[in-house]
Order: sequence, then C-alpha cells, then structure tokens
Amino acid sequence: MIEFKNVSKSFGTKKILDRLSFTLESGKITFIVGKSGEGKSVTIKHIIGLLRPDEGQILYDGEDLTKYDRKALQAHHRRFGMLFQSAALFDSLTVAENIVFPLKEIGHRSAHAMQEIVENILHQVGLSDKLLDKYPNALSTGEKKRVGLARALVAKPKVLLYDEPTTGMDPLVSEMIDQLIVQTSRNQTDLTSVVISHDLKAALATADTIIMLYKGRVALAGTPETFRSTKDPVVRQFFSGKVEGPMEFV
Ligand SMILES: Nc1ncnc2c1ncn2[C@@H]1O[C@H](COP(=O)(O)OP(=O)(O)OP(=O)(O)O)[C@@H](O)[C@H]1O
Ligand SMILES: [Mg+2]
Repeated sequence: MIEFKNVSKSFGTKKILDRLSFTLESGKITFIVGKSGEGKSVTIKHIIGLLRPDEGQILYDGEDLTKYDRKALQAHHRRFGMLFQSAALFDSLTVAENIVFPLKEIGHRSAHAMQEIVENILHQVGLSDKLLDKYPNALSTGEKKRVGLARALVAKPKVLLYDEPTTGMDPLVSEMIDQLIVQTSRNQTDLTSVVISHDLKAALATADTIIMLYKGRVALAGTPETFRSTKDPVVRQFFSGKVEGPMEFV
C-alpha cells in the first residue's frame, strides 16, 4: 500500500534517510523501530506528505506522492489518523467534543449523525458513554489514550499512525495500549496501522511486521520471528538495550 523506493533526505549536510526502501502492507500492524535520531519521525512525515524527499519515490497505492500538488496532498493527509504520545486532547472541550472535532473540520454537520458516530466509536475503543460530558483532566491516562484513539478513528482513516504511543507510560498502561492497537486493527481489518516505537518488546508482541532503521536505511525488516532469530549484531545490540545513550553523529 505504501512503498518507499530509495528515499533520501538531508537536513543541511546531515543525511537522515539514505536510499531508504521498504513496504507497508495494507491492513497490517507495522512497527518502525530504531534509536533516537535514526529518522523515525522524519520517515512518518514523509509518509503523510509533510516532508518531500530529496530523491526517491513514495508510492501510495501505486501513486507517487512526491509528485502530488497541494490539493492532492491535502486529500492525502485525510487518509491518516494520528495518535500522539500525549493523546493531545483539547482540555477545554468535553470528551464528546474532542471526538467529533475532526468531523467538524472536514465539514460533517448533522448532530444526530454525529451522536451515532460518537457512540459507535466509543464502543470500538472500549469507553463508557458516561465519560462523554467529562473534560480530559478528569480522565486517567489510559482513558485519555482511548479518547485520542477515538478521535483518530472518527474520520475513518485508511492509515492510523501511532507516534511513540507508550513512551513514558507505566507497564500496565503500556500493555493496555499495545492491546488496544491490536484490537483496533482486528475491529477494522482494512485499517493499516503504523507504530513508531523505541520499544522492541512491544513490537515483538504486537507487530505483524517490524522495520528497524539504522543509519538512514533498513537494518532489518520482517516478522517478530525474524527479529528473534537474527544474528545481525546491530539488531541484537538494539534488542539487548545497550544502544541507549548518546546518538551518533553522522
Ligand atoms: N526539520 C528538521 N530540520 C533539521 N533537522 C531535522 C529536522 N527534522 C529532523 N531533523 C533531524 O533528523 C534526525 C532524525 O530525527 P527524527 O525526529 O526523525 O528522529 P527519531 O528517530 O524520531 O528520534 P526519537 O526517537 O528521538 O523521536 C535528527 O538528527 C533530527 O535532529
Ligand atoms: Mg521521533
């Protein structure tokens, strides 16, 4: 569904992506992992079309989005839902208002239809409708994540992007979010899920495919099984957690 073909991107003299190639399969959960500074967020921005590569092609269902004009790019943005680390809810809006926010933005109007959509989505992310009139500061971390997910799903994205969904969360909430990612993907089988993560353990438990970035390229891409059995020293080192620490300067 999404394919990077020899994508390169530099900022100044620093080459962040170096002829990067990979495929994201439709309907699957793909984790993109790698150390801090390896270009995970830069890669995501290319997927959404917020950054243009210096070289290479990025194909969405076979169309090269590096050739899109502004209007086509706007339509491309609407294919995506995003769940940020902090859930990024609007504190002055209720849960219900937060959830329908994207719909107002893209011009849906009927109150009745909105109500129905909200109730459906709440059910899908496992939240009680008792929370609808509450404000975000009255919610637990896990509930905020679910509301963030509901908001990301409400505009029916083709691709759901999670940027570091569990970083800084306690293990129980992290596990709940990992399960939520799997559940969401199962509920909506045509949804493509892309998770940016430092957490190889979560990737091994949750992903259909893992792509590990290293020095602007793919160090290894494959199933969790591929990652468990690899002898590649770079991947094994990342696994064992010894790579944390100052990032390298290229
Ligand atoms: N707009 C920009 N201008 C200049 N440099 C940038 C820009 N965006 C990213 N970079 C640089 O590109 C490199 C990769 O950044 P990126 O945010 O993709 O890393 P990351 O893998 O997401 O790291 P983290 O795990 O810390 O979020 C970094 O060195 C960063 O400073
Ligand atoms: Mg990042």
